[in-house]
Amino acid sequence: TSGALVDTHGRVHRDLRISLTDRCSLRCTYCMPEQGNEWLARASILSTDEIVEVAEVAAALGIRTFRLTGGEPLLRADIVDVVRRIARIEGEDGPVEVAMTTNGISLAKKLPDLIAAGLTRLNISIDTVDRQRFADLTRRDRIEDVFEGIAAAAASELRPLKLNAVAMRGVNDDELPDLVAFAMGVGAQLRFIEQMPLDAGHTWDRSTMVTREEILEKLGERWQLDPVPGRGGAPAEKWRIDGGPHEVGVIASVTAPFCGACDRLRLTADGQFRNCLFSNAEYDLTAVMRSEGSVPGHRADAIAALLRSCVHGKLPGHAINDPSFLQPARGMNAIGG
Ligand code: GTP
Ligand code: 5AD
Ligand code: SF4
Repeated sequence: TSGALVDTHGRVHRDLRISLTDRCSLRCTYCMPEQGNEWLARASILSTDEIVEVAEVAAALGIRTFRLTGGEPLLRADIVDVVRRIARIEGEDGPVEVAMTTNGISLAKKLPDLIAAGLTRLNISIDTVDRQRFADLTRRDRIEDVFEGIAAAAASELRPLKLNAVAMRGVNDDELPDLVAFAMGVGAQLRFIEQMPLDAGHTWDRSTMVTREEILEKLGERWQLDPVPGRGGAPAEKWRIDGGPHEVGVIASVTAPFCGACDRLRLTADGQFRNCLFSNAEYDLTAVMRSEGSVPGHRADAIAALLRSCVHGKLPGHAINDPSFLQPARGMNAIGG
């Protein structure tokens, strides 16, 4: 089962993002309706045994980083086990990295166990530092929980610590420098994200998206920003702040897509491989894992073959900027951020 996951455009895939659940403890207006989405059936959610089996095959094919996402990954009851079992996997050149993207709620409580289990990196989402705004945006008055989670992460040894903020017109576009200052205060790197058309309600509108250019203009009023070279396959472009130790990033998926350097694959909570957020093509892992008479040895080959066809089918880039663009059928919480 060895040999790298190279697509028809020469991109080598090193990063697998695994969604552990489509559920979430928040209801961000740009992601979900108030009542939540129609959740995936419990029986369709991959078990931890299944996830670990897949991760082993993926690591043998050159995946080095596993990023656990959701929904909210901390809602998974056995999250510490998931981390521990993936962290034990040997990659092609050493132990794999197990990272997590979380909204920070209940993180403070779980972080010591997660670190002991082998978690290597954390990205925490926080779109505003204002309590009322947070409550309006996420429909939950829980900013204090998030602050606690961030404080715990900041006090831990996990570095770099990244904070993610989706920039939105009329919502948080007047507090972009405040968000950066907050991140600097806790020793984290803030990354602003251009909003992508991935909401369950299909309400995305180019006019409410705050662009990379606007973000840089707003930050430029407060600080001098110097580009940090050496981005590699990373989604964020980075700038040094006032020549000091701090950096700020922008993930401009819409106006400056990084598809050409994309090294990511995704696995949805219900067992579908995807090669892009914006492709509706799904490669049915569940069918492989749960087919009658399936035995582990053969299954590993079948999983590897499925991953290869997923990679093989990857298009050069998303088409958000084409007039004929159609939003993917599933939203961000189901695909996995
Ligand atoms: P790092 O490894 O720390 O760079 O993490 P990351 O930025 O890849 O992951 P994170 O979960 O923090 O995602 C931050 C933002 O980047 C989210 O809005 C993601 O949806 C977006 N993002 C991550 N991967 C992709 C991708 O493959 N394509 C696009 N368009 N956006 C992505
Ligand atoms: N566009 C860009 N980022 C999004 N996120 C959720 N929905 C979108 C979207 N439509 C962000 C979350 C989190 C990360 C995983 O993705 O806020 O920071
Ligand atoms: Fe939850 Fe993230 Fe969606 Fe907000 S954006 S509702 S934190 S999954």
